[in-house]
Amino acid sequence: MIWLIDIRPFEPEDTRAVIELEEEIFHEPSPILYSMIERYPIDGFYVAECDGVVCGYLIGVVLMDEARILLLGVKQEYRRKTIGSMLANYFIESVRRITNMVRLEVRSSNLAAQTFYFKMGFRFVGIINGYYKNGESAYVMIKPLDQLTLFL
Ligand SMILES: CC(C)(COP(=O)(O)OP(=O)(O)OC[C@H]1O[C@@H](n2cnc3c(N)ncnc32)[C@H](O)[C@@H]1OP(=O)(O)O)[C@@H](O)C(=O)NCCC(=O)NCCS
Repeated sequence: MIWLIDIRPFEPEDTRAVIELEEEIFHEPSPILYSMIERYPIDGFYVAECDGVVCGYLIGVVLMDEARILLLGVKQEYRRKTIGSMLANYFIESVRRITNMVRLEVRSSNLAAQTFYFKMGFRFVGIINGYYKNGESAYVMIKPLDQLTLFL
């Protein structure tokens, strides 16, 4: 099946679809998501639309000179079709000129996301013990951009 995929900034009309997607994927509402919705219009909040259906979203921010991916999710039945890569690349290209790196935290148990980010050029640079509410650790991953080379 071939979909028409559009990556675009979040619009208020996407609110319900994005909240439903967040609950479906992460099983708990994220305060980050609600605060980004309330702060509309805001940079770094993108959705993927597949044949008119919101099938993924990404929330990223730039703090000082470091860009961070805070949330990324693709609806189950749309995975492994490059939508996650398209969302991540859209954000990375939007910050490339203003930052040297993109950073993120990923659950130590989330092998799928780690594999995905590694394929996107992110590398493991550390671990934060007890980062998540349930006590789980986070791996810190960084993707260096044009001016930065990691000693890894
Ligand atoms: C992680 C996630 C966003 C990836 O989205 P996606 O649209 O499926 O990713 P892509 O199709 O662009 O995948 C690109 C590559 O990443 C790797 N990859 C993606 N999902 C993978 C998985 N489940 N297992 C192993 N490798 C995977 C593959 O190398 C894939 O290329 P391939 O399909 O040619 O083998 C999606 O699985 C998801 O929403 N997961 C739940 C939420 C989550 O964990 N978010 C990240 C933490 S915030």
